[in-house]
Amino acid sequence: MKRRTAEPYKIKSVETLSMLSYDERHESLARAGYNTFLIDSDDVYIDLLTDSGTTAMSDAQWGALMTGDEAYAGSKSWKRLEQAVKDVYGYNYVLPTHQGRGAENILSQLKIKDGDYVPGNMYFTTTRAHQEMNGATFVDIIIDEAHDPSIDLPFKGNVDLKKLQALIDKVGAEKIPYVCLAVTVNLAGGQPVSMRNMKDVYELCQSYSIDVMFDATRCVENAYFIKDREEGYANQTVAAILKEMLSYSDGCTMSGKKDCLVNIGGFLAMNDEDLYIRSRELVVVYEGMPSYGGMSGRDMEAMAIGIREAVDDHYIEHRIAQVRHLGQQLLDAGIPIVKPIGGHAVFLDARAFLPHLSQEEFPAQSLAAALYLDSGVRSMERGIISAGRDIKTGEHNRPNLELVRLTIPRRVYTNNHMDVVVDSILALYEKRDWISGLKMVYEPPTLRFFNARFEPLCETGELIAEKNKAKQIS
Ligand code: F0G
Repeated sequence: MKRRTAEPYKIKSVETLSMLSYDERHESLARAGYNTFLIDSDDVYIDLLTDSGTTAMSDAQWGALMTGDEAYAGSKSWKRLEQAVKDVYGYNYVLPTHQGRGAENILSQLKIKDGDYVPGNMYFTTTRAHQEMNGATFVDIIIDEAHDPSIDLPFKGNVDLKKLQALIDKVGAEKIPYVCLAVTVNLAGGQPVSMRNMKDVYELCQSYSIDVMFDATRCVENAYFIKDREEGYANQTVAAILKEMLSYSDGCTMSGKKDCLVNIGGFLAMNDEDLYIRSRELVVVYEGMPSYGGMSGRDMEAMAIGIREAVDDHYIEHRIAQVRHLGQQLLDAGIPIVKPIGGHAVFLDARAFLPHLSQEEFPAQSLAAALYLDSGVRSMERGIISAGRDIKTGEHNRPNLELVRLTIPRRVYTNNHMDVVVDSILALYEKRDWISGLKMVYEPPTLRFFNARFEPLCETGELIAEKNKAKQIS
């Protein structure tokens, strides 16, 4: 018999959850323009909008808050954070930023020239926005299989080296300031990159003097997948695997709000001293002194501890197992989800869930809204709305993946909460034909998914109603 495991922590403080009625949720959803980003968190029962900044801190982290050194310059809390990054990640130089996109801003400004190309293994919204705002064209070099939610591969975040080579041949290495390698790949479904692939990308780039910058946001989760799936790593610690991974890069941007187990913070790290000196100048302009970079001393204390806690093998094993606990039940029930189950989230395949809706009827946005209506579970669209418009043509970008992300905050919910989510999705699947599409009634110019507003397409104005089915059939 396979023995069950449980959370590797016990609960010291609890937060009561709101449990609204169907009618109250209906009102809340309409107020939010059917956009889950705009729902008040007070109206949410189980919040799977994001794993970003939603972590529960440990007692050690809460205790350390009191020791925060709030000096404007030379804070000892910064020294502790800097040391933690050097010890766990192994880079020579570190600069603090208020969160991941602060680091992306500085890196993009310093490395990119107008007309450059930045290859990456699928885009992330803020990362690509910074690259484009600095004049670069983003080029997707992830393996083709990553765009197909039904293909089950152990390392679906891998770079297709032929695509990278073809880009170098086409535009020339001098037009490629760096390769941006995300480990894991958020929008592909939290899919990892193999150690072999990281090494191959690094070696190819070195031969052309192109830097490799990791988006290390969920790097510990990637390290665990290597331990679990890649030959030769089963007996190594996640901490050792992580160090090896990062040795195949020249630096990284980091959102501390994920794998550093804190609610705010980030950093930019690198091995090149010249880049460090130039980055320090920009940190002062955009973030604050290089000894706090937009974080308070107490934030830095919490992050220094979180960085070490995250590489505890029991913590990360349970983290991935909890995501699997949710995803496996959905798979077993025949619900279309991205395969294999990723590191931070389970992604519903909205095209397969709602095949009666075209991409212009925003199936993922509609499904996220319907899930909230059914059970108060908040999720996020990751499809055509998130992909935005082509900066040159103004047309919608049309990603193959039209997904609803159920993102699991770290150390926050129990597996019982995951079971409640499963039940709601199964109930929705039963009545999926009744779910209407949406029309966008307000579209902001940048990162539109945050603030866009929608209305149900169905004449009755109901998102889930038997009428909708009749409309589709007629
Ligand atoms: N890179 C990746 C892969 C991310 O997932 C995020 C944030 C960032 C960079 C930016 O970091 O938020 O600290 O500025 N992802 C969040 C999410 C917002 O919900 O997936 P940030």
